[in-house]
Amino acid sequence: MLLSVENVSKVFGGNVAVDSVSFSIEKPAFVGIIGRSGAGKSTLLRMVNRLTDASSGAIRFEGRDVLSLGGSAKRAWQSDCAMIFQQFNLVPRMDVVSNVLHGTLNRHSAFATFFNLYPTADIHRAIDILDRLGIAEQAAKRAEALSGGQQQRVAIARALMQDPRIILADEPIASLDPMNAQVVMDALRRIHEEDGRMVVANLHTLDTARRYCDRVIGMRAGRIVFDGTPGQLTTGVARDIYGADASFSESATSTSIEALDANARAMMEEAELL
Ligand SMILES: Nc1ncnc2c1ncn2[C@@H]1O[C@H](COP(=O)(O)OP(=O)(O)OP(=O)(O)O)[C@@H](O)[C@H]1O
Ligand SMILES: [Mg+2]
Repeated sequence: MLLSVENVSKVFGGNVAVDSVSFSIEKPAFVGIIGRSGAGKSTLLRMVNRLTDASSGAIRFEGRDVLSLGGSAKRAWQSDCAMIFQQFNLVPRMDVVSNVLHGTLNRHSAFATFFNLYPTADIHRAIDILDRLGIAEQAAKRAEALSGGQQQRVAIARALMQDPRIILADEPIASLDPMNAQVVMDALRRIHEEDGRMVVANLHTLDTARRYCDRVIGMRAGRIVFDGTPGQLTTGVARDIYGADASFSESATSTSIEALDANARAMMEEAELL
């Protein structure tokens, strides 16, 4: 057993954000978590990473109790499960390679980090990782000068610098256009396949979950209401996850290229009418 989440709950005030969630991941899989806004997806990932403390339950990684870790053991765990966010969380005015080197922060003294005194070996490694992600030529630019898709790849490079066992991605493509979304998802998938790293990603579109994941977990109101393969994720099941009343449609949860093409076509038709 690699990762096991056992009856984990999170209560904010009187609001149960995550309600006794249990699942386990046996081998380094690519797992997607879907569900409507407020379902508890982010809270769940944040508890795994220890950004948020769980109210109750247990999380284990290779049998080790993750929720009781403190101090340097907790920091080591946070390094083992790198987090990627929708908004990239880069330092905008800092150059790309320095942003990537931030991924080694836990290993260096605050003094060395403050003065950008990174070992040459780390700098070479950072550039190799950027190269692998197809953005080595951006290394000297400020992060803010890059496109969203490039910035998210910098964030992935920063995560890889930690040599993590797990990559936790919270809506990694929600701010990207379809082309960049595809580049970023392809990069995550490749990292999973080539390095054997587990990826757990909150995804806001059904088609992305179906296309990239080995397994999909559906959450609704803090609970797991589906746990299966993309093949089992039928329209009926999706309706269940997203709520039958909520004018559910495949396109409403989808920013797929097809959906965007349809929009573009509609706009062009409209333009011709003018
Ligand atoms: N720091 C917080 N304080 C209080 N309530 C919170 C906090 N974080 C989340 N919540 C509440 O917990 C519930 C789950 O939120 P969460 O952000 O995990 O949902 P989500 O599935 O990630 O939604 P989205 O798709 O919008 O990102 C929501 O009702 C939210 O309002
Ligand atoms: Mg969220």
